[in-house]
This record gives sequence, C-alpha cells and structure tokens, in this order.
Amino acid sequence: MRGAGSGLRLDRVVAGPRHFLGLDELDAQTLRSLLDQAVALKRDRKRPDGPGPLAGRELAMIFEKESTRTRVSFAVAMHRLGGETIVLAPEEMQLGRGETIEDTARVLSRYVDAIMIRTDSHDKLLQLAEHASVPVINGLTDRTHPCQLMADIMTFEEHRGAIAGREVAWVGDGNNVAATWLQAAARFGFSLRMACPAALRPDPEIAAWAEANGARVSVTEDVESAVQGADCVVTDSWISLSDDPHTKVVDLLRPYQVDERIMALAGADALFMHCLPAKRGQEVVDAVIDGRQSVVWDEAENRVHAQQAILLWCMAPPSV
Ligand code: CP
Ligand code: NVA
Repeated sequence: MRGAGSGLRLDRVVAGPRHFLGLDELDAQTLRSLLDQAVALKRDRKRPDGPGPLAGRELAMIFEKESTRTRVSFAVAMHRLGGETIVLAPEEMQLGRGETIEDTARVLSRYVDAIMIRTDSHDKLLQLAEHASVPVINGLTDRTHPCQLMADIMTFEEHRGAIAGREVAWVGDGNNVAATWLQAAARFGFSLRMACPAALRPDPEIAAWAEANGARVSVTEDVESAVQGADCVVTDSWISLSDDPHTKVVDLLRPYQVDERIMALAGADALFMHCLPAKRGQEVVDAVIDGRQSVVWDEAENRVHAQQAILLWCMAPPSV
C-alpha cells in the first residue's frame, strides 16, 4: 500500500496555519468556494492594477521530485497575485545533508509566508506541516495530488457543468492521482468507477475513507464495464515519480491503455482527462490525447487558477 505505515496522523496537525494538505482535510463547502474563486480568477485574469493581494509575500517551493506544471503554475499563480517564489531543491539545501524536515520547517517559517512541497513521502509533508508556522501546500506526494484534482474538477465543470451526480471512469494504475479522485468523489458528489489491475488497486485506506464519506465507488479489473457510458475517462502514467521503474510491472497495465475503442464505449460526449505528463503510446494513444474529447491542456492551465485560489485561501484568509 502506497504511503502506508505512517506513524503520523493528520489530526496531529493542530489548528494554526491554513494548510492545503489533502481534499480529505477540507470540507465540501470550503473546496467548492475555492473552485468558485478559481473560476472568478480565470474570468478576470488580467494582472491586478495595484500591488496584488499577496504583494510582499513569498512562497518557498521544495521539489524533491521533478515537475513542469506544478513548478511553473505555482510561480505564475504567485506572480499574478503580486507575490514571489523561491525554488528549493533538497540537494542544494542542508535538508539534503541531513538537516531534519522539522528544523527546515521552523527555519523556512521565519523567512517565507507559505511552503509548497513535492515529495515522495506523504509523512514528510505531514511533518513539515506539523512543524511549520506558515501554511503548507501539498504539491504531490506518493499518496495524493490535491492541487491537480482542484484543477481537474474545475475543468470538468467548465466543459460539462456540475460534476455532482456524474459518472467518472478511472482506467489504469491505482496511484496517487487515482487516490485523490477517490477523495474528490466524496467531496464533490460524483460516482467513480475504477478499472485497475488487481495488484495496482488504489490505496485501500483512502478508498475506505471515500466510501465512509459518501462516495459512490467501484473498483474492477474490467475496463469495459468501468467506462461504459461514463461522462469522463481519466488515466495517468503507469510509472509515477515514487515508483521504482525496475520493479513496477508495467505489463499488468497493457490492457488498460486508453484508445479509441475505450473512448467509444464511454460515449461521444465523454471527456478525456490526464494530469500529464503523458507517456504517449503507453497509457493513452495519440488519437485520444490529441482528439476532440481531450481536455488535458485545460487541466494544465487550470492549475494556475485553482492554485491562485488555494494560495489566497492559505495566505489571506480574511478576503476569502
Ligand atoms: N500534473 C503535474 O503535477 O505535472 P508536473 O509533474 O509537471 O508538475
Ligand atoms: N502519478 C504521477 C502524477 C504526476 C503529476 C506521479 O506521481 O508521478
């Protein structure tokens, strides 16, 4: 199980800064208001006339793993709000030489107004949040990717209206993004039908949480039944940043490639979504990702708008 074995519990992150750690941490109403604000920010997307609501604020971004979208979209989001970013790579920090994440959290909190981290250890995210006195944002862990899902729900709704009551099909690896779709199903009220190999099902703890929180979820190995009549087909890369490419059994995923036949089963109006980066010819064929049902570039763009709303919520609570 990915991200399992944590001795840390989210409820140890006591009241204090407004962290954005996961969709399970925030109620449906808060998440909906963040999406409403993201839509408004996209509509009025010109740069602020004045100094911007986050003028003088700094966001530190720690990348323990590679990124294109998260790195650029957070930088652009902060810039549009009048703030600035500092990009930190562990190998260039004392963190890479053994300084603890706790001490790093304490020190960065004296310099910056918020910290975004991408890490392959969800525990590290929680430790950072526990010891930081400024907001911490999850920029992807081995367990979840909540900023991505905010952009994805925004994208679905832009194209098809309210996602509540709709049918989403996940096809492929039951990875961190799959787990976050499970959390989103609970928070945004859509049905999630997942088709994954038996050995690559999503985190059972997160699946249980989603069902306990009202999500309508099914997990099967049968792609055809999962996608039949779906409003949206979603997939992701077969090798995630926290996977060991030498041990991951990619062959198991070959029947889960999203191609024209799978999209035809879903229906002519079904959207195709992928958080990117895509491995074309592996989890998805060119004809689908470049086809008329694909909204992947909108998902990438909406990271900026969704994260502007998240940054405002974290750093300027009175205005949200
Ligand atoms: N979707 C996403 O988070 O992309 P990056 O890995 O490029 O940040
Ligand atoms: N599941 C992928 C998502 C990349 C944005 C990974 O963790 O690498």
